[in-house]
Amino acid sequence: MEKQEAIIKVENVSIKFNLSTERFDTFKEYVIKSLKNQVSYEEFWALKNVSFEVYRGDSLGLVGLNGSGKSTMLKTIAGVLKPTEGKVTVNGGVAPLIELGAGFDLDLTARENVYLNGAILGHSREVMEQHYEDIVEFSELREFMDVPVKNYSSGMVSRLAFAIATIGTPDILIVDEVLSVGDFRFQKKCEERIHAMMDKGTTILFVSHSIDQVKSICNKIVWLEKGHVKRFGNAEEICEEYRNS
Ligand SMILES: Nc1ncnc2c1ncn2[C@@H]1O[C@H](COP(=O)(O)OP(=O)(O)OP(=O)(O)O)[C@@H](O)[C@H]1O
Ligand SMILES: [Mg+2]
Repeated sequence: MEKQEAIIKVENVSIKFNLSTERFDTFKEYVIKSLKNQVSYEEFWALKNVSFEVYRGDSLGLVGLNGSGKSTMLKTIAGVLKPTEGKVTVNGGVAPLIELGAGFDLDLTARENVYLNGAILGHSREVMEQHYEDIVEFSELREFMDVPVKNYSSGMVSRLAFAIATIGTPDILIVDEVLSVGDFRFQKKCEERIHAMMDKGTTILFVSHSIDQVKSICNKIVWLEKGHVKRFGNAEEICEEYRNS
């Protein structure tokens, strides 16, 4: 049989951030120094030479300590960040659930944000109208749909974001920590929906500090340590190794 083409291919990806290391007493001082090119930056590599491949039907977990580069990697796959070096190839549509509330306008109501977020994800108004009832039903926010999202709790924001990102069957669903603010009953409901999407062929990229959750969803793991891949492979094995590290 011919080898299947990877749905996501990450090749030698490095991401560099410039961290300003100087302190300025005034904004004016900063502007003058930056115009004279006298601001010094320290280079910081959030990812260094990261490579892995994901195939259709895989669900990939990213594990690693705080600051190891998980969200940076997911943002690069979602196209939010551009690699400083290396290449990311994605063969499909991505529904990104990266930062809580990203894609929401906090001054707008939940109802308005459904359409706004849908547009950001590339869905027409008609498509969002078709799915509106499912979003309200799944998020259990019926009484709160006309409330501005700024008055939502973080759990309510995550319910709404999850319900919107999981309409239809995206090729790739990215879930970065979004479940951790939901209560345990909602987490279970989200896990069930993720499994149902996997059955329909959606590829999942998943980050959670709950190793049990990662194990229940993922078959492959990338373990990041200070921006490097420490391990890549089978979920059972690497989760245990990570847990005991
Ligand atoms: N825009 C940015 N500018 C400068 N540094 C950044 C930026 N975004 C991320 N970093 C740095 O890159 C490193 C990796 O951050 P990242 O958010 O990817 O970690 P993470 O593995 O998702 O951590 P956590 O488990 O806390 O979510 C951190 O040291 C962080 O400070
Ligand atoms: Mg993160």
